[in-house]
Amino acid sequence: MRILRTIPEVRAAVRDARLANRTVGLVPTMGAFHEGHLSLMRAARAASDLVVVSLFVNPTQFGANEDLGAYPRDEARDAALAEAEGVDILVAPAASEIYPEGFATNIHVAGLTDVLDGASRGAHHFDGVATVVTKLFGIVRPDAAYFGQKDAQQVLVVRRVVRDLDLDVRIVTCPIVREADGLAMSSRNVYLDPDARAQATALNRALDAAAAVSESGERDVDRILSAARRELDDAGITPEYLELRDAETLQTVTRLDRDALLAVAAHVGAARLIDNHLLSAPAANPTDPKGDA
Ligand code: PAF
Repeated sequence: MRILRTIPEVRAAVRDARLANRTVGLVPTMGAFHEGHLSLMRAARAASDLVVVSLFVNPTQFGANEDLGAYPRDEARDAALAEAEGVDILVAPAASEIYPEGFATNIHVAGLTDVLDGASRGAHHFDGVATVVTKLFGIVRPDAAYFGQKDAQQVLVVRRVVRDLDLDVRIVTCPIVREADGLAMSSRNVYLDPDARAQATALNRALDAAAAVSESGERDVDRILSAARRELDDAGITPEYLELRDAETLQTVTRLDRDALLAVAAHVGAARLIDNHLLSAPAANPTDPKGDA
């Protein structure tokens, strides 16, 4: 595996692959690899000739009061893990390579970024993500790029950028990878002390509880969310948000009559964690013409 730090080096390496008609898969990351990242690398490895992983803790997507300084960084460990997954190129640029003096462009996706994490973290967050991901697409020019469903809103934002700007890249979404007790894997789980680690399992339990209610045929969003809120209350967690929104547009829904994203964010111990489940609309009940359940 080669570790490349400059844009010209990356462009040259990918150009050689393209000239040899090899397909290129990109996994954009901020490092601190866990099984979730490795699952993206495996998906890219299975589908591409050349696998490129970017490792860049993108400063523009962090707010002033967020954890940019504390974000876990261990390039040597990450490089060893990526190499073991058969990654061909690790792109590990300095911030000045990505944002040289005079950098002035910002990509803002309206609407989708006003809610959930966009509302909680501020507009800068998804602007930073959209801008750096677009820049990485421009540098690597991958055939496909791999993202985790855990950052569901991020995937929707990236897909919208690709659609609106006609970028020639296929976005592949990979399932959330969870610990044995259901906690979604996250680089931020290292911030959890043992008590907070145990408390954090309530997030997935809450989503499961809401999913079970919806699977029983309930369509009323308040009642579905109540089931999740009870689990969070029992665990002493006050969510930053707990919402059910249209799975594509992120518009609010009051009844589960289309696929919806059930998303939660909460501070647990020293970590801010997010998680989500996709809920499908219950099948229409033929004995209930109004669709009430
Ligand atoms: O999901 C992440 O790790 C980051 O948001 C990404 C996509 C690498 C952009 O910095």
